[in-house]
Amino acid sequence: MKITKAVIPAAGLGTRVLPATKAMPKEMIPIVDKPAIQYIVEEAVAAGITDILIITNRGKGVIEDHFDHSVSLEYVLKKAGKTAQLDSIKDIHKMANIHYIRQIETKGLGHAVSKAKTFVGDEPFLVMYGDDVILGDIPASKELIDAYGTFGKGVLGIKPVSKEAIKKYSSLKIENIKDNVYKCTDMVEKPQTDEEILSLYSILGRCVLPPEIFDILEHTAPGAGGEIQLTDAMKELAQTVGMTAVEFSGKRYDMGNKLGILQANIDVGMKHPETAEGLKDYIKALAEQL
Ligand code: UTP
Repeated sequence: MKITKAVIPAAGLGTRVLPATKAMPKEMIPIVDKPAIQYIVEEAVAAGITDILIITNRGKGVIEDHFDHSVSLEYVLKKAGKTAQLDSIKDIHKMANIHYIRQIETKGLGHAVSKAKTFVGDEPFLVMYGDDVILGDIPASKELIDAYGTFGKGVLGIKPVSKEAIKKYSSLKIENIKDNVYKCTDMVEKPQTDEEILSLYSILGRCVLPPEIFDILEHTAPGAGGEIQLTDAMKELAQTVGMTAVEFSGKRYDMGNKLGILQANIDVGMKHPETAEGLKDYIKALAEQL
């Protein structure tokens, strides 16, 4: 079945990047000249997604404004002959059919995804964590959707992380099938002891899920941090029918983390036509002082 729907949970509190996120959603933090969530929507569209549900909460209305048609701004830019600026905004509202729902209480990523049940219906769907931007030649979501087409099971986007970092993420029990594709049979969210670490591979930012995940989420108890964890629900899938894991080829930036925001801005800024030259000169001069 063709996957055309994506869910972007963007209702987290973003406490790791306060005070920036006191009034502004972390998903709107810019990477050079575009908010993080626009890169995510662009990736979805490049992977063949036509309908997107963004899960928001209080104070995130600015995300809706960003994907709305700004007739007055377009008029002003057109009148002023600012063609490049007009081109940069005029198609944002046409990228996909974007829908919104609020997660009234911030009870975790699994709880946020459960809000997508009516939107998703009885189809497999893509989940894109709202603070994980992945940039590369091939859209990570396409790599996962292709693996769903081949293996017919839920798919996890994965990367190896350091032993220190795995305690903040999830740890997966995986077995290589071929190249960058693995079979996943177990997982643990935020492993705290060495015994709990199944491998240094973690789920980072993307997964394709079958609709059965909603029944599992209904009985998933709060886990790490007292939140309903999506990993705990996916663990049930992995242990029963099994899941596929794909080490995606792009580079992932954690936009919910101060260092991740800086890395994304430097990497994108070094390629952006308006900033590449100046930024490289600046970095070279800075490096001499390090
Ligand atoms: P995170 O745990 O990274 O987001 O969730 P957070 O809660 O904002 O992080 P802190 O406060 O800095 O530690 C991963 C994704 O799940 C969404 C977040 O918006 C993020 O995109 N999320 C998380 C929800 O939509 N709802 C929740 O209840 C929790």
